[in-house]
Amino acid sequence: MRLLNRKVFWVLYFGILSSVVQAAEKKDPYMEALTILTRNCAGCHQAADHPGALFLNRESLSEVATLSLVIKLIKTSQMPPAHKDFAKTPDGKKLLKWLETELTTKEKK
Ligand code: HEC
Repeated sequence: MRLLNRKVFWVLYFGILSSVVQAAEKKDPYMEALTILTRNCAGCHQAADHPGALFLNRESLSEVATLSLVIKLIKTSQMPPAHKDFAKTPDGKKLLKWLETELTTKEKK
């Protein structure tokens, strides 16, 4: 019985979690970018003891210099280090599109 309860809990937990993520992705393009960042970069750039010096979040990604650097490193296949074709994947394309839109908006201001 206890085991069953635990299973039900996880099913509900992930069910709710993924629907929240889906709803958020639709509303805010940043949420989609964040999901991609979390999937591909977080291990090194959002962990408390992150090896990559740069902490990637909305704040750091609001700076033109960071945006340009991130775009450059993805396009030149330097980030993520173990995924040379990242820029060509659906995630990579979406992320680059978001980053470039952000950069254009920031540069206009
Ligand atoms: C396996 C770990 C790892 C992953 C995954 C990773 N990075 Fe990095 N990243 C690093 C390390 C380590 C450095 C620091 C490299 C250096 O200073 O030579 C770095 C540096 C960077 C820098 C330059 C920071 C600076 O201040 O010079 C950027 C920008 C960056 N990463 C973006 C990304 C993005 C965007 C992703 C995901 C698409 C990503 N990285 C995925 C490990 C990672």
